[in-house]
Amino acid sequence: MTQLELDIITARPEIDSLLTYSYSDRLATLLASDLDFHGRNSAYASHNYHAFPAKFPPQLPRLFIENLTSPGDVVLDPMVGSGTTIVEAFLTGRRGIGVDLDPLALQLGQVKTTPIQVEVAAEAGFAALRKAQELCQKQVGKLQNELEHRFAPEERAFIDYWFLPNTQYELLALLSQIEIIEDPTIRAFLELVFSAIIITKSGGVSLARDLAHTRPHRVMEKQPRSALMEFSKRLKKNLESAAELSADLSIPDFIHSNAMALPLQDNTIDLIVTSPPYASNAIDYMRAHKFSLVWFGRTLKQLSDLRSQYIGHDAIKGFDLLTLPPPVQVIVDSVAQTDHKKAQTLHRYYSEATCFLAEMLRVLKPGRAAVVVVGSSVMRGIDTQTDRCLAEIGKSIGFANATIAVRHLDRDKRMMPARSRGKAATSLIEARMHEEYIIAFLKEGSEDENL
Ligand SMILES: C[S@@+](CC[C@H](N)C(=O)[O-])C[C@H]1O[C@@H](n2cnc3c(N)ncnc32)[C@H](O)[C@@H]1O
Repeated sequence: MTQLELDIITARPEIDSLLTYSYSDRLATLLASDLDFHGRNSAYASHNYHAFPAKFPPQLPRLFIENLTSPGDVVLDPMVGSGTTIVEAFLTGRRGIGVDLDPLALQLGQVKTTPIQVEVAAEAGFAALRKAQELCQKQVGKLQNELEHRFAPEERAFIDYWFLPNTQYELLALLSQIEIIEDPTIRAFLELVFSAIIITKSGGVSLARDLAHTRPHRVMEKQPRSALMEFSKRLKKNLESAAELSADLSIPDFIHSNAMALPLQDNTIDLIVTSPPYASNAIDYMRAHKFSLVWFGRTLKQLSDLRSQYIGHDAIKGFDLLTLPPPVQVIVDSVAQTDHKKAQTLHRYYSEATCFLAEMLRVLKPGRAAVVVVGSSVMRGIDTQTDRCLAEIGKSIGFANATIAVRHLDRDKRMMPARSRGKAATSLIEARMHEEYIIAFLKEGSEDENL
């Protein structure tokens, strides 16, 4: 297979004072610095409110935000996920904008960047818990009745499949108490505590295993923990984290929109730090997020419609496949030799990448950078070379250059997609699966144009 011809940075100098450097030299120095961040605490401030697969460490966006922007500058993450970039923009006094299609992601970002009065939230949260305990002890009949009426048959069947009856009563009792809290900020904070006990690495209070890896399967012999106990524990943890958020920071904007059609003006963004989904739905966010979104009243149909718009979705019907740069087409063709359908999925992904990179180019100010973090995928035993392909696409649509740096993943920490089936991966590909690539796209122009 053709190796795309792009420089990959491997040397690692120390960052000293970057202030005297030009923007592009600063960017190059950052890319060549240690981007692994192993052994660093990533659970400070609100970062650990809720599990989320394939989060990047907060140190990563912070490095670029602190060294490439000033307080008051605008930092965008157009596929914001759990909000890591925007939390960092918020903590460092930048104006953050987060975009995502996923309702849970947007709520997560919002709650993580909204300081609350911790005593008030504690009082409301523990009062809701006490009342829920009482309902579960004394009014199971009422809870049973409400379960029958609150959800339509399809959602009811979903809940029945994934949650034991007792867990359902506990969750409904908690939810009914959270819903009546008047303060929207406290209510949203507690809804996330509720969601965080369902979506956990181990499947939380549901019968699912591997929920946060987005490949849930039901395990009947699993003894789910008490939702009430888990709520109490998670509430205490999130309250401790909430105490770290200062009230004087500027609150970011979170927008429900598509990264391929950003509702933002041209030349307005100082820095983008983002990570798109993997190709071929390797991490299926909605598959995990529906476990709590259904409790919040979303229908499975609504969620599946939303899922079909996700970047990396594998449906091809009705999708416009774009012309790709020749080296990228070579990769797609090599997958097509063994699996035509998979190749089309990959073609869709690189077409989507063309659209979201074009949007990033449009909204960035001249002379500014988009830092895009990607992992590679393996399709039918072939490395999709996502890093190199995105760099090629970026240059073909008009970025002045695209430089790739490598970081090595901390295997114990990072929630990665399950290895793809099909041919066994070679050891080279295996090694790449434990790496992540940071591509810095630079928009033509000088910083002076922004003054
Ligand atoms: C890899 S995650 C981002 C993780 C994030 N960097 C973090 O640290 O939490 C990718 C995100 O892209 C979102 N996404 C998928 N398709 C999208 C689209 N068309 N427009 C905007 N966001 C999209 C997914 O919902 C998911 O939250």
